[in-house]
Amino acid sequence: MGSGTLIHMKKILITGAGGYIGSVACNLFLETGYEIVGIDNYIRGFKGPLQQLQSKYGEEKIRFYEEDIRTGIHSVFEKESDIDTVIHYAAFCDVGESELHPELYFGNNISITVALLEAMHKYDVKKIVFSSTCAVYGEPQKDFIDESHLVDPSSHPYSASKYMSERIINWYYKIHGINYIFLRYFNVCGATDDGSIGDSKKPSFHLMQNAVRGALGIDEFKLTCPKVNTPDGTPIRDYVNVIDLNNAHIKAVDYLDSRSVPDIFNLGTGVGNSVLEIVAVVKKITGKEFEIVQGELRKGDVSRAVASNEKISSILGWKPTHSLEDSVKSLVTWYTSHPHGWEE
Ligand SMILES: NC(=O)c1ccc[n+]([C@@H]2O[C@H](COP(=O)([O-])OP(=O)(O)OC[C@H]3O[C@@H](n4cnc5c(N)ncnc54)[C@H](O)[C@@H]3O)[C@@H](O)[C@H]2O)c1
Repeated sequence: MGSGTLIHMKKILITGAGGYIGSVACNLFLETGYEIVGIDNYIRGFKGPLQQLQSKYGEEKIRFYEEDIRTGIHSVFEKESDIDTVIHYAAFCDVGESELHPELYFGNNISITVALLEAMHKYDVKKIVFSSTCAVYGEPQKDFIDESHLVDPSSHPYSASKYMSERIINWYYKIHGINYIFLRYFNVCGATDDGSIGDSKKPSFHLMQNAVRGALGIDEFKLTCPKVNTPDGTPIRDYVNVIDLNNAHIKAVDYLDSRSVPDIFNLGTGVGNSVLEIVAVVKKITGKEFEIVQGELRKGDVSRAVASNEKISSILGWKPTHSLEDSVKSLVTWYTSHPHGWEE
């Protein structure tokens, strides 16, 4: 969408703007007409996508700050007045790492959320969309997980840190009137449709990303899932395209304008695919019969985690529009031009 067709002009603060989902979000929000302010300390993210977007859209539309949220968030609010809404993507999000280093997850994910909310209160910014996760539901009790599903974030420190962040945000709503939407993501996949911005996690823990790298001969593809009770013996997950996912954030930002009470939505396609089905789609799209190496088995994988997206569909009017094939194609373009992700 060109600058002549701008619809929205609000200023949005994106935390974790240099990360996988945050950088794709910056692109999408700019395309839609928003003004973007990004913050990231690049501990897990990259300046590359933000520099690329700034050269395309100009400094008047996107500015980004290299700051740790815990220490630098106030300086960003001081420089950037009139922030309308915050989208809080910044976090550590590797389940396995959280089981070895809980201190990173409680130290970072909780502290950045508190620092951000304190700054929002001080600078009178009253709306936040928070990246949460279906991991807060723990062991699924239903074939399609809806928002009334029991919450049990006891499986690992990552899910606990995300759920604690949710509860802290809820306190800032009750005490300081900061209104929120929690989006509980299922498994995120794909890159921007033109493949210009994508995931750089090294190593990535995203199945589709890893399978595409395996197909392109960039890395060995390792099967790390345990045998579970599904038709082909591999876990079934709900793979949501990163553009579809971020489109839901645009809808959430609009929805917060018309609401004075918070809400929670699951964000998934409502369709489950096994690990082997995803590998088959990658083989079909790339035409490559790559080798599958047996890796070290992960512990505690549930057999099936698939969203009910009835609530987000009926209230926010969100529907996924990308197929698995679309996501794989975007990743093939992304990894062909960036085999090892962003360099910086
Ligand atoms: N990727 C998924 O499948 C998935 C699923 C469910 C939820 N989520 C949530 O989505 C969000 C984004 O995930 P992602 O895959 O883009 O992760 P990512 O690691 O690519 O991005 C996170 C970004 O936050 C930044 N960050 C971390 N701590 C910071 C700090 N103290 N100060 C400033 N910046 C900091 C990192 O440098 C990184 O750029 C996370 O909150 C994650 O919990 C992701």
